[in-house]
Amino acid sequence: MRVHVVDHPLVSHKLTALRDERTESPTFRLLADELVTLLAYEATRDARVEEVTVETPVAPAHGVRLAAPKPLVVPILRAGLGMLDGMVRLLPTAEVGFLGMVRDEDTLKASTYAERLPADLSGRQCYVLDPMLATGGTLAAAIRFLTDRGADHITAICLLCAPEGIERLERELDGLAAPITVVTAAMDEKLNEKGYIVPGLGDAGDRLYGVV
Ligand code: URA
Repeated sequence: MRVHVVDHPLVSHKLTALRDERTESPTFRLLADELVTLLAYEATRDARVEEVTVETPVAPAHGVRLAAPKPLVVPILRAGLGMLDGMVRLLPTAEVGFLGMVRDEDTLKASTYAERLPADLSGRQCYVLDPMLATGGTLAAAIRFLTDRGADHITAICLLCAPEGIERLERELDGLAAPITVVTAAMDEKLNEKGYIVPGLGDAGDRLYGVV
């Protein structure tokens, strides 16, 4: 598994504003959206392309276009929804599937409560959107879900990661044939006793959409 922490002043600037507890939901949503677009630029570095030739007004030009099958973007409900627009802005031809996963706040175990994904993901590049890679349970389960359906290339985009979550992903996804990459704006210090990332930014879903 490859972990790519995007080191860029704009990424750090937006992340710092997101972390700030004084940032209200409307600004938080806007910043998360912009931050995801910056992360998506790095995350799509391995996007599959095919060669094409187009006619410019002057001469033929050799270039590339995104290859078929279309990439699949999978936000993990609910907080991953706050990353969707920022991602598809960069990949407008991607298809979007949904995966609803929730973690039990006592056991910290993840379970699936909703899914809308193609039954066959053979040969698909998938981009999983999950803002907080904390214990890693949700993301590991989501990645397994996709590879069980045939996805052969997975990139997870996370606003923040905890080292514990990365270790768990490495442990649980060891031996998977599909290459897995995690692209993130920062690797934080640790998890606290409630499974929150420290210093983190709090509950991403609550900060995006309020406490419901
Ligand atoms: N989920 C969140 O929203 N925040 C954390 O810090 C950990 C998991």
